[in-house]
Amino acid sequence: MRAHHVLLALVSVVSVSAQSLPVKKIYGVNIGNWLVMEPWMMKNEWVAMGGEHCDTACSTCIGSEMALAQSLGTSVDAVFQQHWNTWFNQTDINKIKAAGLNTVRIPLGYWLVEPLVNRTSEFYAKGGLKILKTRLKALKAAGINVILDHHALPGAAAINQMFAGLCTPTPQFYTTANYERALVWAAVMTAFIHLDADFASVFSLQAINEPVQDARQTPVLGQYEVDFVKTVRSIEQSIGVFVSGQKLPSGVASSLTVSNTILAIANSPKANISTSVRNALKKAQPMLVTLIYANGARVTKVGSTRKPLFTNFMEYYWQNSGQANPADAASGPQTYDQHLYYNFGGVAKAHTETAYMTHLCNLDRVAKDTAVRNTPVYFGEFSLATGWNATDSFLNIWADAQKLMYSQSSGWIFWSFKIEDGQDEKRQWDYFETLKRGYMTQNPASYHNSSVCATYKGKTT
Ligand SMILES: *[C@@H]1O[C@H](CO)[C@@H](O)[C@H](O)[C@H]1NC(C)=O
Ligand SMILES: *[C@@H]1O[C@H](CO)[C@@H](O)[C@H](O)[C@H]1NC(C)=O
Ligand SMILES: *[C@@H]1O[C@H](CO)[C@@H](O)[C@H](O)[C@H]1NC(C)=O
Ligand SMILES: *[C@@H]1O[C@H](CO)[C@@H](O)[C@H](O)[C@H]1NC(C)=O
Ligand SMILES: *[C@@H]1O[C@H](CO)[C@@H](O)[C@H](O)[C@H]1NC(C)=O
Repeated sequence: MRAHHVLLALVSVVSVSAQSLPVKKIYGVNIGNWLVMEPWMMKNEWVAMGGEHCDTACSTCIGSEMALAQSLGTSVDAVFQQHWNTWFNQTDINKIKAAGLNTVRIPLGYWLVEPLVNRTSEFYAKGGLKILKTRLKALKAAGINVILDHHALPGAAAINQMFAGLCTPTPQFYTTANYERALVWAAVMTAFIHLDADFASVFSLQAINEPVQDARQTPVLGQYEVDFVKTVRSIEQSIGVFVSGQKLPSGVASSLTVSNTILAIANSPKANISTSVRNALKKAQPMLVTLIYANGARVTKVGSTRKPLFTNFMEYYWQNSGQANPADAASGPQTYDQHLYYNFGGVAKAHTETAYMTHLCNLDRVAKDTAVRNTPVYFGEFSLATGWNATDSFLNIWADAQKLMYSQSSGWIFWSFKIEDGQDEKRQWDYFETLKRGYMTQNPASYHNSSVCATYKGKTT
């Protein structure tokens, strides 16, 4: 018996330290324009909801989610609820399943954790967590794995971008107060993921989508990365989910409720966490009790049947000019997210078929990420968009080549699952449409021509 136990313990240590992704290869779509809205993806519905399309920067009219929520006043919750119900529902989940995809990445706003919103100066609809829970339950039933992504952060983390929730030329995320709010968000979401059975197919939590690329403008983002991981792992410890070598800090009893254990960790001088993480855990605890009870989950010990989450960051080269390496923040399983769009420029040497294919077929990004320990990495955003109106035959090739090259990583996630009917963007940005037109193949793992890169390999333009 004794020997048997030792063996089991060894086996479990080994399996935890090399925790693998839930699938061999990720084939997925982003659930864009759902809980974080991007007006360019649904031009008519946005106007019908009361929004506007700005002539210049999206900060100059009702061109972002916060601007619309503010202008709607008391009708905001009902208007957004209608969008949430219809933009992504069981019909879409069935189509994702039928397309042979195994993963979705869901962009979320900080306002999902409603107590984080300062309602004197920030405006967002309420009720997002409830609809998220409903759809996660359906995704679980369909066997689809989920990455939850903190896409729109407190104060906004990107410059003049609809996806930041608030369009602003001067993002305010990169401050101690807002980092701390994002940590509270991470704490609450981690607890939900492990305690609420509807969240059971969530395997990964992303700390921040596409921060400002010049790291000189994002002070101490590296500390936020470290603190994000510590927050996730502290909450997991309180639930009894440990990564290899971890245990509760001494003096923190393991027989308490989750809610009390969170506070005990926050107050323990032995816990190796920063003041920001301590503060975040203390602030998250009462929110968690309220939100979890309100949403019907139980705040009691669940034991260690769950696996630790993959903490998730944009890969190292997303930023430049003195950026931190997110690999330095890792404690337990972690993944890295690579985004690549050719149509915006700055990637291939020109907007031509040959330039795109030559660049793509010689892509060195996976190798470069691996060299800085950013592995496993996957391509969490890409589309078929091109800097010119591409022909159908080129889009077959372009789809094949991107899938082929991105499959050198742990997989790919297309942006996005759908675009409003009637828009030009649909052809190259709507996965269901690309499938219908035959650019993407019915089996995501197959190709029209698996030698699509053969004539471009080793060439330069
Ligand atoms: C999903 O919403 C669409 C409207 O966008 C609607 O046609 C469809 O019936 C809905 N599906 C379900 C299962 O409610
Ligand atoms: C909420 O925002 C207002 C206006 O910006 C500010 O004066 C106030 O201090 C904020 N409240 C908190 C709790 O941060
Ligand atoms: C505390 O955490 C830091 C990383 O944030 C790590 O470098 C250090 O080794 C840890 N100290 C102890 C005593 O575990
Ligand atoms: C782009 O080309 C396709 C097919 O080649 C054509 O159907 C479509 O109308 C064109 N779109 C624009 C905006 O010119
Ligand atoms: C596949 O692509 C390669 C490289 O462009 C090309 O040489 C070959 O003819 C293609 N095969 C088919 C069946 O189209």
